[in-house]
Amino acid sequence: MISYNNITLESFQTTWLPEHIHAAMLRLDKIHPEVSGNKWFKLKYNIAAAKANNNTGILTYGGAYSNHIAATALACKEAALPCTGIIRGEEHNGQLNHTLQTAENNGMKLVFVSREDYRNDKDGETVYPGYHVVPEGGHNALGAKGCEEILSIFPTTNYTHILCAVGTGTTLAGLINSAAPHQQIIGIPVLKGAQYLEKEVTDLLHPNNTTRWQLLYEHHGGGYAKKSPALIDFINTIYKETGIPTDIIYTGKLVMAFRDLVQQGYFPANSNILLIHSGGLQGNLSLPPGVLSF
Ligand SMILES: Cc1ncc(COP(=O)(O)O)c(C=O)c1O
Repeated sequence: MISYNNITLESFQTTWLPEHIHAAMLRLDKIHPEVSGNKWFKLKYNIAAAKANNNTGILTYGGAYSNHIAATALACKEAALPCTGIIRGEEHNGQLNHTLQTAENNGMKLVFVSREDYRNDKDGETVYPGYHVVPEGGHNALGAKGCEEILSIFPTTNYTHILCAVGTGTTLAGLINSAAPHQQIIGIPVLKGAQYLEKEVTDLLHPNNTTRWQLLYEHHGGGYAKKSPALIDFINTIYKETGIPTDIIYTGKLVMAFRDLVQQGYFPANSNILLIHSGGLQGNLSLPPGVLSF
């Protein structure tokens, strides 16, 4: 069962945080070991829609290491809904990696397509009639709708700024749609040159939305999944100082961006910052043992 009971809101104290700035982290990573972080929020209304419309199942897309693919498989299993995952790149010698093996064990039918076919695939619905299509990364209006619930798990209107990591922008859109008017929402893209996100996010916002929000593009650390020794050191130090594990692709870069912004004097005195821990910890399994201290 996926339940919000495991999620915690934790005070976030580090050596570089001045006394006049307060921070806390919303630990969505604790929601479920396999449907971790923001994934369930993006999936829940998609699954509900597939059920309500009597769809044959869920059809979704992702790369071989996609957190979204593994999470969709488990969420569909719990909902007793068949699911098919279109996987970018051919299968390697019939050997599945950990993510895909877990997805298959949970009942997902895996279909491998070449990168070119994946890029050109616009007809999932024609090839799989009756399926409810969830785009890569859970990026659709129903995904954003689920993410609107993130800020109501705990009282959060006392926060002045809310920060999250950005891949497709779905989570950010849900946060913007549900924030209070006095709050400022900041998205940190983990991809390089991701200025297209401005439109992707805007397209998912409620009409007449007036929340202040922005994407800060300078914190991708070299690009998607690029990791430097500085990032690894930072993640280890954050864990030592706060007891909070972060991941190398999303949340480590989010917290590093937060530190850089604090050091640049971005936040006025008495700011109260909420950091969203969107999960992704299983991505750390791609590192050799011992690189991270947790
Ligand atoms: C762990 C983690 N955090 C953040 C994100 C980014 O979320 P979004 O795609 O909604 O921007 C993702 C991608 O889905 C993710 O796997």
